Amino acid sequence: MKHSLRLETLANLYPKDAPVFADIGSDHAYLPLLLLEKDKAKRGFCVENKIGPYKRSEQTIFSSSYASQITLYLGDGLTPIKEKVDVAIFAGMGGETIRDILQKEEKKTKEISYLLLDIHGEEEKLYPYLSSLGFVPVDEDALWEKDIYYHPLLLKKDPLKWGVSKEDILFGPIMRTKKGLAYQKYVQKLISQANNLLLLHTLPLQKKEEIHQYIHFLQENL
Ligand SMILES: C[S@@+](CC[C@H](N)C(=O)[O-])C[C@H]1O[C@@H](n2cnc3c(N)ncnc32)[C@H](O)[C@@H]1O
Repeated sequence: MKHSLRLETLANLYPKDAPVFADIGSDHAYLPLLLLEKDKAKRGFCVENKIGPYKRSEQTIFSSSYASQITLYLGDGLTPIKEKVDVAIFAGMGGETIRDILQKEEKKTKEISYLLLDIHGEEEKLYPYLSSLGFVPVDEDALWEKDIYYHPLLLKKDPLKWGVSKEDILFGPIMRTKKGLAYQKYVQKLISQANNLLLLHTLPLQKKEEIHQYIHFLQENL
């Protein structure tokens, strides 16, 4: 099966010493299958809380040769999972939803070694919480697909403390130093959006000044 660049990039970030995963929000279950296909993991759990996506996952899993390595649940977040997992995957969700799911099962969350995320906004609601749990970013990648920017991120439980900065939140904790073409296209897009705002004649002077400072901040991180 041909997978999207986003899913391939997520699979490439999957850590080496992590045989068991939980894919939370598993609509279609393509990523779990890809991980097993690539022999990145030995087995995993898929959890989906809506019947349509659950049925799609069921169809994908049971028409593959990996059905015996996956347990699929119709349920909420980490709740149905009864054993320790090495990696929890949250792809295609906002930061607040991910935080709420982890918070709801904090005891289980504390036993997870890695988080693999494809977070869709609201980083500011998630990163400080992850830092408080002892997660630190270890790798991140960036890509554009169908005109959407993605920055898949791998975090690991580590005694090192992650002091979350505003640059981590806006640019990505690893991407802001790693950079690269996809990242630069993203920052250029933010700059051009901010420049467009400056064209508004009705903009109050103070707001204009704030936007100039923001553009300067973006340029420093290009
Ligand atoms: C945008 S889809 C992403 C699917 C897949 N992970 C991907 O990245 O292609 C998000 C999925 O998460 C599911 N979801 C949202 N909240 C959930 C929760 N608390 N527990 C389980 N699944 C959830 C939604 O029903 C939806 O199918």
